[in-house]
Amino acid sequence: MPLPVDPIAGPKPGRLVRPLLVLARWADEYAARRRERRATAGPSIWEPIHLGVGEDGRPLRLPLIYRNMLLAGEPGAGKSVGLNNIVAHAALSTDCRLWLFDGKIVELGLWRSCAERFVANSLDDAIQALLDLQSEMDSRYAVLDDERRRKIAPDDGVSPIVVVLDELAYFAATVGTKREQESFSVLVRDLVARGRAAGIIVVAATQRPSADIIPTSLRDLFGYRWAFRCTTDTSSDIVLGHGWAGRGYTAASVAPEAKGIGFLLAEGGIPRRVKAAYLSDDEVYALADRATLHRRAHHGTDGQDVDDARSRS
Ligand SMILES: Nc1ncnc2c1ncn2[C@@H]1O[C@H](COP(=O)(O)OP(=O)(O)O)[C@@H](O)[C@H]1O
Ligand SMILES: [Mg+2]
Repeated sequence: MPLPVDPIAGPKPGRLVRPLLVLARWADEYAARRRERRATAGPSIWEPIHLGVGEDGRPLRLPLIYRNMLLAGEPGAGKSVGLNNIVAHAALSTDCRLWLFDGKIVELGLWRSCAERFVANSLDDAIQALLDLQSEMDSRYAVLDDERRRKIAPDDGVSPIVVVLDELAYFAATVGTKREQESFSVLVRDLVARGRAAGIIVVAATQRPSADIIPTSLRDLFGYRWAFRCTTDTSSDIVLGHGWAGRGYTAASVAPEAKGIGFLLAEGGIPRRVKAAYLSDDEVYALADRATLHRRAHHGTDGQDVDDARSRS
């Protein structure tokens, strides 16, 4: 005979219901713990990075791990603003290291306190830093080879290194001798060509989308290319790849007043019109201070002193 149902407690949980309830409670607790951990840990370099919004109004997020990105366009088009989104994410991600190169000093200078290495306008320093990165990359590959692995993974304790170069043309074509510029370009190319599996992510911006600064052989190594306003279809094609302007995808179509809008091409896809998210100077200061504290808590001292960085930038 079935047991009478208690009108207040409802039916007694059956044999299947009880484990399901336990499982549901465990899932709730797990989700809450995860949320809490994410709230305190900040983003990760293994997660997609928020870059802005697409034409459909939806947020655009791309993972940068194992990839490189090129941003190019005329002066004032919005490259440095676009770069700031990437630097902000990387700075807050305590699971990566940040190396910044800025010929203009003041664009990435606000993030100096989060950077393990900050190179201002010295080509000598830039070449030395790239040589150091190259030897780090080579030793990472030696270890991977030893362990018969192809690439770094999130839990192997090897931190990805985000290398951000603003004003590439400054180092590659403006300062120094031809020979030094050539050494710089060769090193950048090597990092872009070989760095990905070793966790070295190169993000480079340049205001001169011409074949001498971005030769096809270098351009083609960048999985992501973001063409901000360009003056001609030819320079847009230099960034995105030959033939895109002819198919209607040209950054020359972006109006001069449409700051921050560009065509973003992700490996194998078609270019998408994207408006970069904008971080004001105050927001950058706040994020940089927060990232610096986060980094100190995680690794001890990482970048240069916040006050020191402020007074210099
Ligand atoms: N996504 C954006 N949203 C709003 N304003 C922007 C955006 N991108 C650029 N701007 C405006 O244009 C100015 C120049 O942008 P910047 O990124 O410094 O250009 P670039 O690095 O290409 O020379 C910025 O100071 C800002 O006022
Ligand atoms: Mg700039």
